[in-house]
Amino acid sequence: MKKDLDWANIGFGYRPTDVRYVSMFKNGAWDEGALTKDATVTISESAGVFQYAQTCFEGLKAYTTEDGHTVTFRPDLNAERMMNSCERLRLPVFPKERFIDAVMQTIRANIDWVPPYGSGASLYVRPFMMGTSPVLGVSPAAESMFRVFVSPVGPYFKGGVRPLKLRVSEYDRAAPNGTGHVKAGLNYAMSLYAIVEAHDQGYDENMYLDSKTRTKVEETGGANFLFVTKDGTVVTPKSPTILPSITRRSLMVVAKEYLGLKCEEREVPVEELSEIAECGLCGTAAVISPVGKVIYGEKEFTFDTSAENMGPTVRKLYETLTGIQMGRIEAPKGWIYRVD
Ligand code: PLP
Ligand code: COI
Repeated sequence: MKKDLDWANIGFGYRPTDVRYVSMFKNGAWDEGALTKDATVTISESAGVFQYAQTCFEGLKAYTTEDGHTVTFRPDLNAERMMNSCERLRLPVFPKERFIDAVMQTIRANIDWVPPYGSGASLYVRPFMMGTSPVLGVSPAAESMFRVFVSPVGPYFKGGVRPLKLRVSEYDRAAPNGTGHVKAGLNYAMSLYAIVEAHDQGYDENMYLDSKTRTKVEETGGANFLFVTKDGTVVTPKSPTILPSITRRSLMVVAKEYLGLKCEEREVPVEELSEIAECGLCGTAAVISPVGKVIYGEKEFTFDTSAENMGPTVRKLYETLTGIQMGRIEAPKGWIYRVD
């Protein structure tokens, strides 16, 4: 039986569910892993995660489809991205097939927490890894823990789908040859100052520029950008220092193959925003969140949000992607994993 939650109003926050998955890395090998009811972690005060932020994570979602099944979306790509994050952080790699299995097991064990079809909510899945054994000198921990928990969530931005107001941040997110392309916890720790300041000033998010030249659009703290030009081309920033969003990569396929739109992945100078018709943020948590305004110093860029708070092309992309995820529209082969 589904849990009795007010699904339409749950917001985006941590809500512990019944079961989570845990596997430990010790003496050079992963154990077999298991589900547990214990939502707490007890480790050394000197664990790598505490001293030197040796941790990375992933985010994906499970949905109830129109015909009542539970599915998840492209977990193979999250598995691969986490392998890259682990390599960059000198954490032990968790094998791809085991990652997918852990995600599927955790969703299945919490099936009553998967929000019903049409509720506007979904089940957020959070795999993560941390160095657990003590370190004092700067070195990788010898032991690590991989966990997966889930939490039912509503829209990431308060107030649901509405045009967001962003500012171009004076703080940088990622250095050339740094860790911007992996999902390291440290990328988010350093964004907290900027996000709190943005919120205090009345903005929903920060638009980060490339830190080397401060002229090109990168991404926000938790999502990639998607632009639509006045002639209807879908453009997304290309940069080695942004996170390779699975939502963005999927949307580019949707734009091309389902909607027949011209697509470009290229550098986007911030000054070009004056020529852009529509703007959205894309990510697992953000889905596609429409952007209404970007403030850049004295300049203000505004975007079309005339199709029920989104630009008309952004709306089509949104409807098609969520249609694929909820089983209303046939998915490309291999995108949907059935849990039940
Ligand atoms: N960029 C950042 C910094 C993120 O944290 C996320 C969220 O995962 C994304 C982009 C979107 O990636 P995805 O679509 O794979 O969720
Ligand atoms: C996600 O979209 O899964 C993320 O990890 C973004 C985070 C800011 C919630």
